[in-house]
Amino acid sequence: MARVVIVSNRVPLPTERGARAGGLAVGIADALKDGGLWFGWSGGISRSARNPVRKVESGSVTYATIDLSQEDYDRFYVGYANSTLWPLLHFRLGLIDFKREDLEGYFSVNRTFAAALALELHPDDVVWIHDYHLIPLGAELRRLGVRNRLGFFLHVPFVPASLFAALPQGETLLRAFLAYDVVGLQTEEHRRDFLDAVKQVLGMEPDGDGLLVTADGTSRAIANPIGIDARGFAAMAAKAERSPETRRLLSSLVGRDLVIGVDRLDYSKGLPNRFTAFGKLLHDFPQHRQKVSYLQVAAKSREDVSEYQALRRELDRKAGNINGRYAEFDWVPLRYMTRPMTRTTLAGFYRAARVGLVTPLRDGMNLVAKEFIAAQDHNDPGVLILSRFAGAAEDLEEALIVNPYDPAEITEAIHQALIMPQDERQDRMARLRARVFTVTAESYCRNFLAALAA
Ligand code: ADP
Ligand code: F6P
Repeated sequence: MARVVIVSNRVPLPTERGARAGGLAVGIADALKDGGLWFGWSGGISRSARNPVRKVESGSVTYATIDLSQEDYDRFYVGYANSTLWPLLHFRLGLIDFKREDLEGYFSVNRTFAAALALELHPDDVVWIHDYHLIPLGAELRRLGVRNRLGFFLHVPFVPASLFAALPQGETLLRAFLAYDVVGLQTEEHRRDFLDAVKQVLGMEPDGDGLLVTADGTSRAIANPIGIDARGFAAMAAKAERSPETRRLLSSLVGRDLVIGVDRLDYSKGLPNRFTAFGKLLHDFPQHRQKVSYLQVAAKSREDVSEYQALRRELDRKAGNINGRYAEFDWVPLRYMTRPMTRTTLAGFYRAARVGLVTPLRDGMNLVAKEFIAAQDHNDPGVLILSRFAGAAEDLEEALIVNPYDPAEITEAIHQALIMPQDERQDRMARLRARVFTVTAESYCRNFLAALAA
């Protein structure tokens, strides 16, 4: 069997302590269940000009990483990836801060990755590259003579062609996708938009199966939604129900209902509107005052990007306003923390919650929604409130689907969730669970690797 090589900017090193927020690592670990290589950025900044590949073995998986220089980090990661591509692909043209030197830094880091990775590859390896940081990596590998099967998966949304047109030198980036044998997107909508951009910007005509014929071969675009290890997560949640952390949480609630939100502190997640919606719930539905607490775990993320710093200040202010207005000496309505939590603790907390709030303004998939569902007790489940603009909404119709741009709609959904009878909660959750237990991390990896082998 061919060795699988995973490449992603962020690598979940087995030596790393503690929790790190982010969906990618959760979904793709399964691809390496029979062993393989995981290659990417170490997360470190190096001052030396020599930048060796460092390797760590864990079971049958080798983790190989390189550092970035300070300049690469600034231009590639903070700059082009997270100040141009991230806002663009989340439909936020107004937040784009494009600089030509960042674009150069982005291509240069992709070249460095390609040069280091090419030396590690065996002729039969199947190479699966992930996410918006590494779009040109395939083309750079081809330029170095790599002939292996190359696949790429975009974890974030793709935008309609009219938005993509705003990207300076977008044509070069779009052409880079065609170096891959398979390009995976999270949903049918993202795949349609991708193929449409290819048509409009590159003037190419895909066939009905998303096959694009290029001068060097073919490239196929597929929709392949990412999932979680639902069984494993459900078992973890059932166990964590009795953990000291969950007990402490429950005893602090003294019988009140818990509303939970778990996100990276990112402007795509719609947190300010969520806070507004919760404040409005306490204003418009006073019967819930002192009866409900909202815990928002918003793990700090990309703190060197200025938009993220501004969001942090905005949320601090909003949380203060809500608590200042409604708190009682024995009740804090909004508990807001910016430290990440371990997966076990999260699992127990999801299970303890009556309402899961997942209201991104745009999201490739959103695995928190799937974790919340998998963690529920089917006898007395909670209710998921889900943004129609999360990729997960394509498949999770029995959630309370909201437009996250309208805080009043979120408020009404929280109210509806809090008063929802048990049989309706059970009915909705049973259907949602069926979906989350079918489209899993395992099916995601299996389908992609099968498409890549075909
Ligand atoms: P993204 O990849 O944009 O961060 P997802 O919802 O797809 O969004 O994935 C987020 C992943 O990170 C989930 O597995 C979730 O459990 C984890 N996560 C998010 N926020 C936190 C947090 N505050 N603490 C620990 N883990 C978190
Ligand atoms: O899908 C979004 C994503 O970029 C993932 O690739 C990653 O797991 C997560 O966000 C965390 O972001 P960062 O690597 O910038 O900390």
